[in-house]
Amino acid sequence: MPTDSSATWNAIILAAGEGTRMKSSLPKVLHEIAGRALVSWVVRTAIDAGASRCVVVVGHGQDDVERELVTRFGPRVKTVLQPEQRGTGDAVRCAIEADAALEGRLVVLYGDCPLIPAGLVRDLAERSEQAGADLGLVTATLPDPTGYGRIVRSGAGDVQRIVEDRDCSADERAIREVNPGLYAVRADFLREALAQLTPDNAQGQLYLTDVVELAASRGKVVDLEGDMADLTGVNDQGDLSMAASTHRRRMAEELARNGVGVADLDTLYIDAECQIEPGATLGANVHLRGRCVVREGAHIDVGCVLTNVTVERDAKVLPYTVAADSTIGEGALVGPFSHLRPQTELGPRSKVGNFSETKKTTLGAGSKVNHLSYVGDGVIGKDVNIGAGTIFCNYDGEGKHTTVLEDGVFIGSDTQLIAPVTVKKGAYVASGTTVTRDVPEDALAVSRSKQENKEGYAARLRARLRNKKKPGRD
Ligand code: UD1
Ligand code: CA
Repeated sequence: MPTDSSATWNAIILAAGEGTRMKSSLPKVLHEIAGRALVSWVVRTAIDAGASRCVVVVGHGQDDVERELVTRFGPRVKTVLQPEQRGTGDAVRCAIEADAALEGRLVVLYGDCPLIPAGLVRDLAERSEQAGADLGLVTATLPDPTGYGRIVRSGAGDVQRIVEDRDCSADERAIREVNPGLYAVRADFLREALAQLTPDNAQGQLYLTDVVELAASRGKVVDLEGDMADLTGVNDQGDLSMAASTHRRRMAEELARNGVGVADLDTLYIDAECQIEPGATLGANVHLRGRCVVREGAHIDVGCVLTNVTVERDAKVLPYTVAADSTIGEGALVGPFSHLRPQTELGPRSKVGNFSETKKTTLGAGSKVNHLSYVGDGVIGKDVNIGAGTIFCNYDGEGKHTTVLEDGVFIGSDTQLIAPVTVKKGAYVASGTTVTRDVPEDALAVSRSKQENKEGYAARLRARLRNKKKPGRD
């Protein structure tokens, strides 16, 4: 059947429940999958599917849920308060009473079903509209339907009503076709139907699902079959882990199909807002959190944990590197075992090697911090070499101070730079120096005591120590 892509519809998302089965102080819909709250997954789906208007019903944890929605979506998402959680039917009633613009075709989604594909929502809205149905719904069949509302059909196979798990008779409990909780309803029918709901059920609530029977009695129900893997509701921590695993695996497969090299489909942890370009490669057990960008040709090796990091083209991040709020420049090399703390900006072809830590530092093109160094509050020019074990002493107990190393500077191993201090262009700092004053251009700074060699001293010392040893004892 051709679909009418110009059809408009509005979405209502129910997110007022406490979610006691989560056994968590966080409102259920704020639990995250891939760094995005459950409710935001559902709002994203509604927007992607083409909802003109998105109204979220909030209640439990109202302030926190509203904050999450405003941060993610700004003013395009409206919230409506359900003062008491009297059931899903009551939640929808609160929305349509509060918002006169909820007219025409309304799609109702539950805020605890994070994996619903936008295409299915669009299909349901369009098909229900084309059929002129009072109500369209999705159903799915499960080997173990426990917990879900069951779909009761007539002998002719038409949907008649939904019976909640707790209200099922023995026969109804055996039904394996369930209600995933996705509906497209005509607003005027819904207003009428909601007014007729009663709380005479096991939970004493107003069930949205009872609206189905009213629509069926008027003969205007459309049903679509969905895949339960897309439609799981999250009611406890087990559901949350399972939904997160399903999402991860799908996301890894999709990346691989789009040209990203994925070493292990099962251990890639990538938050929803990250962007990985085709031609990038990702090792096993890589975690990309927040908003990371990984460009074409970049490689992130096994065990790296990056948060809000941009990895430019052809850069390599070697195993077990931890980095946050930083940029790794084109062709740069980081790790293994490096720690880039916030505001690290690594220039093209620069290097940060093993057991080096950086913070609030820019490293110019081609500069290197290869081994065992701490580089904090640094402004480092091009082609600077920082020897092993160099420490930027940036903190004096009160404030942080800057160390400037201009282009072409060479810092010998085991140097301490006491900030604020500047080493000018092309200067050398000898190994083991404590730099307390600025070093002029092309100068050598050295601050260590002169070496003295005492000929034969070691041998004499050894002999003396051996003679002192008492016989028979170590
Ligand atoms: C609901 C359905 C059930 C379906 C299942 C699918 C009803 C009566 N039952 O059951 O048929 O199989 O989802 O996952 O609709 N909410 C409110 N206000 C309330 C109550 C709930 O906003 O007063 C919100 C919750 O925050 C949640 C959603 O509605 O996001 C669903 O509520 P929940 O209690 O999880 O319903 P289920 O028991 O899963
Ligand atoms: Ca649920």
